[in-house]
Amino acid sequence: MGLKSLLHRPGHQATQPAAKVSTRSVASSSSPVSQASSSKPFLDAIRSRRTVYALNKSAPIPDTQIAFIVKETIQHTPSAFNSQTARLVVLLNKEHDTFWELVKASLKPLVSEEQFTTTSAKLDGFKAGYGTVLFYEDQDIVHGLEENFKLYADKFQQWSEHTSAMHQLVLWTALEAEGFGANLQHYNPVVDAKAAEQWGVPSNWNLKAQLVFGGRVEGQEPGEKQFKPVEGERLRIYGQA
Ligand SMILES: Cc1cc2nc3c(=O)[nH]c(=O)nc-3n(C[C@H](O)[C@H](O)[C@H](O)COP(=O)(O)O)c2cc1C
Repeated sequence: MGLKSLLHRPGHQATQPAAKVSTRSVASSSSPVSQASSSKPFLDAIRSRRTVYALNKSAPIPDTQIAFIVKETIQHTPSAFNSQTARLVVLLNKEHDTFWELVKASLKPLVSEEQFTTTSAKLDGFKAGYGTVLFYEDQDIVHGLEENFKLYADKFQQWSEHTSAMHQLVLWTALEAEGFGANLQHYNPVVDAKAAEQWGVPSNWNLKAQLVFGGRVEGQEPGEKQFKPVEGERLRIYGQA
């Protein structure tokens, strides 16, 4: 399907039924975990994904299903040179709470008492959610690529960031398609050492981002998003039939 047909099909009767976020369609027979309920077409899910800060501890799907979605994300998201550098740590329930307490403890010595009151309230907002996914990149693999492919040596760090970002978007979109709300945070590197100690994270894993997710608080949906014009400003197409 071309870009034109993707962008100009507001309905989602896309000609390629395979383009779905549904984990039902990808549940392999080797996976004993139950399948996801969502069958949203891919672009619908992309459109619906937002930054949602108002989160609570309710979960629209069981933890086993969350685990399944994360496994599928890791398995099928692409990586530079198929290097598979992404390493994800999923923190649910009490472990999620612990993470946000660790962030708090890490930031306390770094900010004034007055600032900490505000910071603390903000962090409690994240803690109010159901889970957090920590996105790491395996530096041993990245350095190995730098060593083995000298021509691209100065690119591998950047491509590793891209790889991580792709995982972040896939998982963010997939969790929201299941009914969660989610937002993306960056409390690295301040929390790195405490998180590594708490969950035994290998020293070659470098923390890139944290995806917080939880139940959506009724009446506190994200506000309307402002868009810059796409056509004529952010997009150029040449050779369109
Ligand atoms: C690379 C990247 C980094 C981001 N970092 C943060 C962050 O540290 N904290 C935060 O609250 N939101 C963060 N966001 C969320 C953006 O602010 C948000 O996606 C953007 O305002 C568009 O809103 P939407 O997500 O509702 O579409 C980040 C998003 C991206 C793509």
